[in-house]
Amino acid sequence: MIPDKPPQDNVFHGSEELKKEAHVPSFDKYRELYMKSVDNPDEFWGDVAKDFFWKTKHTGQFLDYNFDVTKGEIYIKCMEGASTNICYNLLDRNVHEKKLADKVAFFWEGNEPGDELTVTYRELLQRVCQFANVLKAQGVKKGDRVSIYMPMVVELVVAMLACVRIGAVHSIVFAGFSAESLCERIVDSQCCLLITADGFYRGDKLINLKLLADEALQKCRDKGFPVGRCIMLKHLSKEPEGILGSQSPPAKRPCPDLQQEKQAGRVKKTRPVPKVPWNPEVDLCWDALLRGVSDECEPEWCDSEDPLFILYTSGSTGKPKGVLHTVSGYMLYTATTFKVVFDHQPDDVYWCTADIGWITGHSYITYGPLANGATSVLFEGLPTHPDVSRMWEIVDKYNVTKFYTAPTAIRLLMKFGNEPVQRYKRSSLKVLGTVGEPINPEAWQWYYNVVGEKRCPIVDTFWQTETGGHVLTPLPAATPMKPGSATLPFFGVVPAILNESGEELEGPSEGYLVFKQPWPGVMRTIYGSHERFESTYFKKFPGYYVTGDGCRRDKDGYFWVTGRIDDMLNVSGHLLSTAEVESALVEHEAVAEAAVVGRPHPVKGESLYCFVTLNDGVMYNSELEVELKKQGKIMRRLLRKIACDERELGDISTLADSTVVEQLFQNRCCTAV
Ligand code: PRX
Repeated sequence: MIPDKPPQDNVFHGSEELKKEAHVPSFDKYRELYMKSVDNPDEFWGDVAKDFFWKTKHTGQFLDYNFDVTKGEIYIKCMEGASTNICYNLLDRNVHEKKLADKVAFFWEGNEPGDELTVTYRELLQRVCQFANVLKAQGVKKGDRVSIYMPMVVELVVAMLACVRIGAVHSIVFAGFSAESLCERIVDSQCCLLITADGFYRGDKLINLKLLADEALQKCRDKGFPVGRCIMLKHLSKEPEGILGSQSPPAKRPCPDLQQEKQAGRVKKTRPVPKVPWNPEVDLCWDALLRGVSDECEPEWCDSEDPLFILYTSGSTGKPKGVLHTVSGYMLYTATTFKVVFDHQPDDVYWCTADIGWITGHSYITYGPLANGATSVLFEGLPTHPDVSRMWEIVDKYNVTKFYTAPTAIRLLMKFGNEPVQRYKRSSLKVLGTVGEPINPEAWQWYYNVVGEKRCPIVDTFWQTETGGHVLTPLPAATPMKPGSATLPFFGVVPAILNESGEELEGPSEGYLVFKQPWPGVMRTIYGSHERFESTYFKKFPGYYVTGDGCRRDKDGYFWVTGRIDDMLNVSGHLLSTAEVESALVEHEAVAEAAVVGRPHPVKGESLYCFVTLNDGVMYNSELEVELKKQGKIMRRLLRKIACDERELGDISTLADSTVVEQLFQNRCCTAV
């Protein structure tokens, strides 16, 4: 299953220094723990669970599941019957039992250097409880869905954990998404409330978030789904006068002056503030709602398999899928992966540069780190603002020890050479991580040699929104690294590689990456469509969870994820479905048809390459397009090659008219997006 011995050739090792303190200090220890996690999951995860608070104990098996559609409905249950509350485990347990009340939970670093805040575990607990009481006062109950559309501010964590405290299910929508996307997600999960902010800056660009939120709410109304209330945080517009555009807030709920926050250190800049439309029927001001509200709130005790959150990810049909995670399994899995993969130690300062709007932010900014009582940096800005040294400036400012980012960011910064990195010391760094897409060996080497100065192992973590946490990853002191390989499975994860006929391949091989059994953090369903859950992940190869990724295994048993093999694209670590992009294109009145493929891109990993047929036939004639479509499906494999100008096309015998291929080559004049 995993190799007996670690590979010897062409590998990189973690430092001796790291091995001294590591939770998993050697390959043999990794192997031993891995075997236990697979042979005896009840005991393995049972030991992990001992560190957490349970209101009532679980009954029956630790993990109960059916992964085989031919045997009935797919289900995964972890610690059924036990009750707990994640917010309690993340905050109260750390404040009271672990005596971490005064430990910093987050160093918030704003878009502008100098904008900063520090929040301790005690303060976070108080703020979460207060906001939980606000939600309750608004009538939000256990099981209700709440949509959150916010920038990277502490209040985003407060909002998500306040939901968790009262058993409500958060559905966070990345603040870079459009009003249309927000509306689609609100309607799909039938959210009763929206939490947003006035606006934020990304670099020099002002995003009028409230305007987008309003547009989304209007679209919801048009679709017959009116959302009762919208709570708005004043992030940019702090003063009570003139913030709310031309209209004033309702007299009963004036927005207060946040003197307290200013004293806490958030530096105000004289930059244009967003114009905020205000509808007293719907809108509520975050700060006003908090006035006089108690900062104590008894948690709602939830069953292990109660829903925790919904997070949307692209689906190959174009309609996003609401991936549903549940309470206990997700908590144990994110806590354990965080602890072991980043080798978390009490004095670490950890920084994950992802946005909380994506799964990486959910699992490795909020849940995993807080479950371990970690201190994290929460960064609102961009790696290039105000200049390309920003990341390393922040690393030195907070003495960051563990740093987690995406290959896209590494490739982007690599373009500017070594000087912007070497301007800063970075001597605090111990472990580096990547996530979101395959990392090319050049970027890996640069990250390792220049950023980490050959001192820091790189954990190349492969996982998905659906997996909840890391599934293939090195452990920094235990697993020899190979640039570009996510190496070996995490505890409890049993990967396999299948060929087209669904046969398991042994030894060095390439095919579909699948998993043979669940681990605690795997998704439970697609919200509102268990049938789609089964058909997307379990129908193609009964008995296995199908990732949708291609994968190669080398002679040492190491896994190399090669990228999506369905109609999905990975642009800058973000998944997009070709269907989604195509339908957006064809909505334009000038476009008759569109086909979208990925093309390698030096920084983004992949870029979109769009083949578009115009109605008046300017670029391609529509017959040509129709001929291809007669096959029932556009041969994306060919289009990909045409996009890359590769003449080795392989088998094109199934095309009705193969001369179209040559015509497409000759007309290769589309612009890559
Ligand atoms: O294709 C794989 C790629 O990202 C996909 C999952 O995307 P998403 O659900 O948005 O989650 C991204 C963050 C976990 C996967 O199916 N991917 C993610 N990490 C890696 C990767 N591909 C190669 N190597 C990785 N380390």
